Amino acid sequence: MEDQTAQKLRGGYYTPIDLAEFLASWIKEVKPERVLEPSCGDGAFLQALYNVGGFEGADVLAFELDGDEAEKAHRRARLLGLVNAEVRSADFMQWAVASMQDHGRPFDAVLGNPPFIRYQFLPAEFQARAEIIFDELDLRFTKHTNAWVPFILASMAMLRPGGRLAMVVPSEIIHVGHAQALRSYLGRECRRLVIVDPEELWFDGTLQGAVILMAEKRQEGTQIGEGLGIHSVRGRDFLKVEPHAIFDAPRPINGRTVAGKWTRALLDVEARLLLDELEQHPDVKLFDDVARVDVGIVTGANKFFLVDDDTVRRYGLERYAHPMFGRSDHCPGLIYDTEQHERNAGSGKPTNFLLFDETYSKMSAATRRYIALGEEEKLHTRYKCRIRTPWYKVPSVYSTEVGMLKRAHDTPRLILNDAGAYTTDTAYRIRTHGTPANRLVGSFLNPLTALSAELEGRHYGGGVLELVPSEIERLLLPLPAAVDLDLASLDEDVRSNPMEAVLERQADRILGALGVSKARQSATLASWRRLRDRRHRIPVDVA
Ligand SMILES: C[S@@+](CC[C@H](N)C(=O)[O-])C[C@H]1O[C@@H](n2cnc3c(N)ncnc32)[C@H](O)[C@@H]1O
Repeated sequence: MEDQTAQKLRGGYYTPIDLAEFLASWIKEVKPERVLEPSCGDGAFLQALYNVGGFEGADVLAFELDGDEAEKAHRRARLLGLVNAEVRSADFMQWAVASMQDHGRPFDAVLGNPPFIRYQFLPAEFQARAEIIFDELDLRFTKHTNAWVPFILASMAMLRPGGRLAMVVPSEIIHVGHAQALRSYLGRECRRLVIVDPEELWFDGTLQGAVILMAEKRQEGTQIGEGLGIHSVRGRDFLKVEPHAIFDAPRPINGRTVAGKWTRALLDVEARLLLDELEQHPDVKLFDDVARVDVGIVTGANKFFLVDDDTVRRYGLERYAHPMFGRSDHCPGLIYDTEQHERNAGSGKPTNFLLFDETYSKMSAATRRYIALGEEEKLHTRYKCRIRTPWYKVPSVYSTEVGMLKRAHDTPRLILNDAGAYTTDTAYRIRTHGTPANRLVGSFLNPLTALSAELEGRHYGGGVLELVPSEIERLLLPLPAAVDLDLASLDEDVRSNPMEAVLERQADRILGALGVSKARQSATLASWRRLRDRRHRIPVDVA
């Protein structure tokens, strides 16, 4: 267990040899004389160079921070007869910064699998180096970055025009916000970019999904590149195909997709065209045009401020208690009404939000005791609590007619807040700009919006979809003028049936009302299902 944590902290999951060989064969096509491996572990990629053959005389420069692993890699290179391979036990970023600043000799190819370590866990001097790498390339730095981002940036920067970068990288490269500068940079620098996206996870022992990145740097002075393609693969059969055939397989897309999130490239060409067309439909709006998204109430101490009926009774807090919901099991349908609220309260859920909007001197002894309990737990010293006076009076308390949970398993849904309940920071508060709330809630649930949520949102290990306000604002929302929507029965449908079946019925209702054919409704639903299933994929044994 301890070993596993240490391994995780240094980002030490090694590449299976068959994948490493596949990448080595691909870079071999440009006959590299100089190869870089920025974080070689025990040398899986050195082994791959040997197994593939043809690299015997190549200059290979490898880095590995961990001394023992570097030693193993060094010994492996000697044993394999890679006479010009040098393994340095050092921080790759330190060397990369110096090399970028001196305009060191470029490499013909880069191979590797960079470490996955959040910026906040990097030692201070490494953090500084990561930032310099962004600066050297004139890219906007963010502290949300992760070690693999500056590793790829520096590797690409040190590649010669026409050179190739072949790496195993976290699958979040496709969508994660902090990698935006990297995606745009790669889009600018490369003739062609291909992601090989497995339907299963390749690495055991971590939820971190991985993909293969194959990138060929643009020749100087050539026009803009071809863009990005994503090639989905199932199992390991693709390893039997020539790597250049895989690199040439997907139809790339360019323009705003390559500059923005790459998720759109996960769709096949027909699905992209259909999406482009639907986007142009006059009754398909951007969420931002129709409604406004605000974060929920931030309490700073949810356990203290969100309580069950029992706690309310015990401390006589009735005067301060207001209905609230915040989790998907609080609102299994589309309507949150007093009936649902009472059901939640009856089952002991924390359905009360405590708003202490009264001066201390007027409070009962029991209420004061409750506040003292919070102070005993040092809640008043927590950042969000200590910046307000008094610490127990939560600010910005209002409810909206519509709410939306931040996270979703299948697809986000809007919730009609009939009970006027409050929502905390697990949910958003939504205000419509004039569209009646029940029309907004009912129309939101459809395969097109669900698909655009997959394209705009983010997900991490565990497969839950999460949307931040700016992503919700970009969602596509079909709002047909004439549609027969009965929210009560839709609510019942959502409570009782799988989301897929509900979306199919909604496709007919909502997209059908826009004049979208049955075949295209099904195609939209199928695209959503593919991306949802991809997000839900689970690790398989790679051995
Ligand atoms: C995901 S592993 C990959 C190892 C090897 N490339 C492979 O594919 O099997 C990442 C490696 O990066 C190393 N590492 C972490 N930080 C580093 C740094 N700043 N410079 C060089 N190597 C580093 C870790 O020790 C780990 O061995």
